[in-house]
This record gives sequence, structure tokens and C-alpha cells, in this order.
Amino acid sequence: MGTEAMEQPGYALGHSEHELARLSRQGQIFLPFTRQLFDQAGIGSGMHVLDVGSGAGDVSLLAAELVGPEGRVVGVDCAEAAVAWATARVRSQQIEHVDFLVGDPAIIEFGQQFDAIVGRFVLMYYPDPVAAVRTLARHLHPNGVMVFQEFDMEYLGTHPAAPTFERAAEWMRAAFRATGARIRLGAELYPVFVSAGLPRPSLRMDILIGGGAEFQGYGLLAAVLESLIPVMEQLGIATAADINFATLAERMRDEVVAAKGVALSPALIGAWCRGTSLG
Ligand SMILES: C[S@@+](CC[C@H](N)C(=O)[O-])C[C@H]1O[C@@H](n2cnc3c(N)ncnc32)[C@H](O)[C@@H]1O
Repeated sequence: MGTEAMEQPGYALGHSEHELARLSRQGQIFLPFTRQLFDQAGIGSGMHVLDVGSGAGDVSLLAAELVGPEGRVVGVDCAEAAVAWATARVRSQQIEHVDFLVGDPAIIEFGQQFDAIVGRFVLMYYPDPVAAVRTLARHLHPNGVMVFQEFDMEYLGTHPAAPTFERAAEWMRAAFRATGARIRLGAELYPVFVSAGLPRPSLRMDILIGGGAEFQGYGLLAAVLESLIPVMEQLGIATAADINFATLAERMRDEVVAAKGVALSPALIGAWCRGTSLG
């Protein structure tokens, strides 16, 4: 597995094994938020679920647990390396009711409708999220559930302001912005659903917040920056020497701890609705 085939243009993080492992670690940290969102949205036993932009497979695995063996999950990602990784993962866990496919689920024809369409941290990479949701909706059963959880990166920061964390947060936002990702898509999900012709969605917002040396947020941000180094160097945002990944998490942690402050992750905003039309 490598970074080779079908790399999404403008997808800054790539799909190296190192990045897919990072995605899974991040996925585990945010898992409780996604689980609560899916519970609220009504993802449950026996459902057939489409996972848009399945990456390393974390959301598909959560959906598989919620729908149980009577249900079915199809995870779709445009990157072959991600699909190979996620497939190997479910095989090694002997999970039979999840399949992964290569492609863009907004374009693929599945020949079936799903009870739920879910996606996490993926609509932000679509050039036109409204068009994507509108075309995805044709795969949804008329009474099915559409659920997306996307970042609002403006919330990423510290209080009181810790300079190293704040600089790292700005590098990250700059890299995603420069590659065309929508860094506030979470806060735009409501108009995205409505403009796509879906019923007005319910919303929830979660943020990982903590202080002290044990907080996971420093390592989480440092790891994203590590994956973004090639893109940041190419775009002239920051160099590997500026970032100094080897000590970045430690420096961020020490400043926050010294100030007895707190650090916040990006907000995860979840939106969900039932049905495909305003009726
Ligand atoms: C940040 S990862 C999130 C993965 C997973 N949903 C999670 O939450 O852990 C985004 C994934 O979406 C995929 N992706 C982006 N645009 C896509 C598209 N148009 N069609 C299919 N996959 C896409 C990328 O290849 C990447 O694996």
C-alpha cells in the first residue's frame, strides 16, 4: 500500500500508511462524539449504511457495530490505498457485513438505496458540497437518514493564547484553505442540507477541550501538521524546520501547562435529517 493511485487532487493529507494510522488514532479520539451523533440520528440495528469518504474505515466500523450483523455497511473512498487499508482491517477482525469500494459515492451508481448515508470530515473536500449532498441523496431511501459530521476549524485554539499552539493552528488552517478545503464546513452544514433540497437538519456540536500535560489535543494537532509538512513546504506556508515536529507537541503542552490554560480541538458539527424531500 502506498500513496499511489487515485489520490484526490487537493486532498492535502495523502494516504501513506503513516497518515492512515494517524487518521485511525484521530478517529478513536473523536469516536464518542460520532457515536453520540449516530445514536441521536437513529442509526441502528439492521440498517444498510453508505459511508462517504471512508478513509481508514473508522466510521464504517462504528456503523457496522450499530447496525449489527443483520445490517450492512458500504464504505467508499476515492483513494485505493485507503480502501485497501480499511478492507484489510475488517478482514483481520473477521467482520463480514462491511465492504469497501474505490470511487466517489456522489458519482457511483449502487443499484440500491440505503437506509442511512453517513460521512465524517469529507464534505469539506468536495468542491461543491451542496451538489454532492444533492446527488448523494438519490442513494437514500425516501425515509432514510442523512448524517454528516464536519469540522469548524475556527474553534481550534488556546485560552489564554499559547503562541506555539496558536501558530500551529494557523499553519494548519492555512494549508487546508490553500488546498481548497472548507475549514468551516461544519457551521455551513445547515445551509448545505437545505440548499440541497433536504429537510432542515438537527445539529450538535462537540469539542475536545482540556488542560494539563495529559491532554491529547497537543499530539493530535502535531500529528496533522506532520502529515501536512510536504504541502506546507510546497505552498510556502512553513518549512519542516519552522514546524520542528520532533518537539512540537511538547512545546505546545509546556506553554499551555505553564499558563494553566486550556486547548480546544476544532469543533465537530453534526447535522442529520430524515427523508429526502421537504414534503
Ligand atoms: C479526513 S479523511 C476522513 C476519513 C473518515 N471518514 C474518518 O472520519 O476517519 C477524508 C477521506 O475522504 C476521502 N475523500 C475526499 N473526497 C472524496 C470524494 N470526492 N469521494 C470519495 N472519497 C473522498 C479522502 O480520500 C479521505 O480518505
